Amino acid sequence: MEYITLNNGLKMPMIGIGTYPLNGISLIKAIVNAYKSGYTNFETSAAYFNEECLGVSLELIKSLGAKEIFVTTKLSNTAQREGDARKALLNSMKKLGVAQVDLYLMHWPYPEKYLDSWKQMEALYNEGLVKAIGVCNFHEHHLDKLLEVAEIVPAVNQIEIHPLFSQKPLRNYCENRGIKLQAYSPVARMNPKLIENELLVALAAKYQKTVPQIILRWDIQSGLLTVPKSGNRKRIQENIDIFDFELTQEEMYKIEHINEDYRIRFNPDTVDYVNVLKA
Ligand SMILES: NC(=O)c1ccc[n+]([C@@H]2O[C@H](COP(=O)([O-])OP(=O)(O)OC[C@H]3O[C@@H](n4cnc5c(N)ncnc54)[C@H](OP(=O)(O)O)[C@@H]3O)[C@@H](O)[C@H]2O)c1
Repeated sequence: MEYITLNNGLKMPMIGIGTYPLNGISLIKAIVNAYKSGYTNFETSAAYFNEECLGVSLELIKSLGAKEIFVTTKLSNTAQREGDARKALLNSMKKLGVAQVDLYLMHWPYPEKYLDSWKQMEALYNEGLVKAIGVCNFHEHHLDKLLEVAEIVPAVNQIEIHPLFSQKPLRNYCENRGIKLQAYSPVARMNPKLIENELLVALAAKYQKTVPQIILRWDIQSGLLTVPKSGNRKRIQENIDIFDFELTQEEMYKIEHINEDYRIRFNPDTVDYVNVLKA
């Protein structure tokens, strides 16, 4: 596993396992398989309604010998509307069975709320309840506003990133301000437009790897944290088995230029926060 050092010195494993929409026995199995494959970084949100089950799964892997565990959860839109981030975090911590959350992210830049939410998250950090705080789905203009009022620069911005939507301008913006990027939907939910891309298929053949492995390797070599989701034992293992080969500079450049600004998930500027992103 490789690590990234966040802007407050915290070391974070570069690959984590995304857990949405896993829950119940399929989540427990996925976490046990992830642990056995070498994952130590586990990611959820209050909005995924699986924190309790993730907590049970973490207890289980601790009983199997897991020592280093890095847990990320998120402040939901519901909690932002209610306006009490501390209550929301304590609730998440109780469900997860942890005394401290490693990384606490704001799930969306909820209109009219996100600046106040950030100030509350700063207080949670200062209180020592979380080791690092960050955001998700923030564009440059959200970050501009946040940085005007912030005392703490977000450690991470978790956004949709994959070769069809490489988000280079936003990545540059964040990198220049000490904000690390984390790729969500890193394999674009196996969208055929990405997975059947000729360059990626050729690189997979060259390195005797799969297309998802080529993409995840591109994340790592680009300095991106990444959080692929799989509930399947073989694919969980496959997604972390990417540390035994290296893409060339030219290949990295070519993958970067697959970009078509092709987004598969919601655009934070246009999504309906009331009806679609309720949770
Ligand atoms: N902050 C946010 O707003 C936000 C938004 C979206 C997602 N996320 C987080 O990011 C995580 C990952 O994103 P995502 O689930 O949207 O997309 P993803 O990780 O790009 O794709 C997940 C899908 O791809 C399949 N898959 C994964 N690895 C594979 C492989 N090696 N070979 C074949 N199929 C593979 C999985 O199927 P199987 O399970 O059957 O393997 C699953 O259907 C989520 O779980 C969530 O934690 C955050």
